[in-house]
Amino acid sequence: MATGTDHAIGEAVAARVERRWATLSIVIVGVLVGMATYIGIHQATMPQGHVETADPKTLHLSSEFVESNLGSSVEADGSVTVRAIGQQYSFTPQCVVVPADTPINLRATSADVVHGLLIEGTNINIMLVPGYVSALPIRFKVPRDHVMPCQEFCGIGHQGMWGKVKVVDKTVFRNMIAAKRRLTCVD
Ligand code: CUA
Repeated sequence: MATGTDHAIGEAVAARVERRWATLSIVIVGVLVGMATYIGIHQATMPQGHVETADPKTLHLSSEFVESNLGSSVEADGSVTVRAIGQQYSFTPQCVVVPADTPINLRATSADVVHGLLIEGTNINIMLVPGYVSALPIRFKVPRDHVMPCQEFCGIGHQGMWGKVKVVDKTVFRNMIAAKRRLTCVD
């Protein structure tokens, strides 16, 4: 049978256990808040490991994005690399030509402010951020023309900033590029 003393001891034990759990739950909350804060600050201040950078100030002079290097080129493995720049208020090249049914690596960046590159009729939609290279593997099923508007407000000329993507048959593309190293539909 419980006596008055037993009752008091029981209460003391219960209070101690409760305090221990309360402390533990506060510590857990503290650790989680600390982790979220650290990750948030780290991501906001450091470029992430897989991110490639490109200095917007020297873009035209000494990077993979020099003007002669823009447009489509064929790699040794048969894939195609497309390099493009967005700037207020146009894309360079203004028109991109690519083969259908071929793996394509799209690599683009911005020379000034943040732009968006959207290829109408596809799910291709990337942001072009000055200082960083946006890389995206893409593929077009069939030959057709797509419009490529800027989809990020970038200033007063934003509405008029758009380019074109011309998807042509594989063989046609191979014949077009045979004579040159880089291809755009502007030239
Ligand atoms: Cu560039 Cu909007």
